[in-house]
Amino acid sequence: MNKSQNFMNWNNPGIALITGASSGIGASYARLLSAQGFETILVARRKERLEDLARELEHNTSNKAAVVVADLSKLEDINSVTEKIKGLNNIDVLVNNAGFGTRGYLENLPLNAIKEMMFVHNIAPVFFSRAVLPGMIKQNRGVIINVSSMRAFMARPQDVMYGSTKNFLNRFSEILQLELHDTKVKIQAVCPGYTRTEIFNGKYLKDFDVSSIPEEMWMSVDEVVELSLNACQNKEVVFIPGDANQKFIELYTNPKLGKRTRENMTKMKIIPRK
Ligand SMILES: NC(=O)c1ccc[n+]([C@@H]2O[C@H](COP(=O)([O-])OP(=O)(O)OC[C@H]3O[C@@H](n4cnc5c(N)ncnc54)[C@H](OP(=O)(O)O)[C@@H]3O)[C@@H](O)[C@H]2O)c1
Repeated sequence: MNKSQNFMNWNNPGIALITGASSGIGASYARLLSAQGFETILVARRKERLEDLARELEHNTSNKAAVVVADLSKLEDINSVTEKIKGLNNIDVLVNNAGFGTRGYLENLPLNAIKEMMFVHNIAPVFFSRAVLPGMIKQNRGVIINVSSMRAFMARPQDVMYGSTKNFLNRFSEILQLELHDTKVKIQAVCPGYTRTEIFNGKYLKDFDVSSIPEEMWMSVDEVVELSLNACQNKEVVFIPGDANQKFIELYTNPKLGKRTRENMTKMKIIPRK
């Protein structure tokens, strides 16, 4: 793919800033966007992982890759990344991807997990979007991808923080896109289903039995990211990658036909209250 053949068919692709680029879905966005001619800025906590990826990208694509070590569960780090973004005038793509899982009843979840999740899933994406928008509006081009989840659609016990912070991202994206109706700036809330990554080893996601998920329900990070980027020229803001996932959410959210599915899913694998 040469420099004008990127997912938006832009001339002279600028910078793509990706949070949570040290593994999984974020690393895949970084690889694809770098291969499409974008300079990348890779944000996460694990410095070594980011530096390895930056070296790999620069070696494979000759496009610059910079590393920003930041803990997005901390307001001071969110502020410092926000300031960095404000100092750059050619961010074409912002991928708010950093995230982690929690599982459990609200009263049993550690307060830190709750606070960290709201900062990483919500405060950081809102602050970073606000910081890139003046440049994007001025250039009349840009894409903000908020990595949400299929769980944004589902009301399930023990998913109270993950489901509701992802639900926020969907609504935030929809309203933000409405605000940008007179520009060519595109907002996408991408809602993956089960995707093979390290997220299931997370410290707040104990007891999650990955083997209980049938093989056919899994997607790879590259499938998710390719579908997400390809859908950025479509009108829809909330995008579910994968036909099976789309059909499932269509059924789940259907007021009549989805009633049984919704009821069954609220009863699945409930861990007893402590
Ligand atoms: N995998 C799935 O099945 C699935 C499904 C739906 C949605 N998602 C969403 O996809 C996104 C990416 O997750 P993944 O599945 O690719 O998992 P992953 O491999 O664990 O990646 C998560 C990324 O987020 C970063 N991150 C987490 N906490 C952070 C913090 N406090 N500050 C900065 N960066 C932080 C991690 O980097 P460091 O640890 O280096 O900081 C890592 O790069 C998440 O938003 C997740 O909710 C995943």
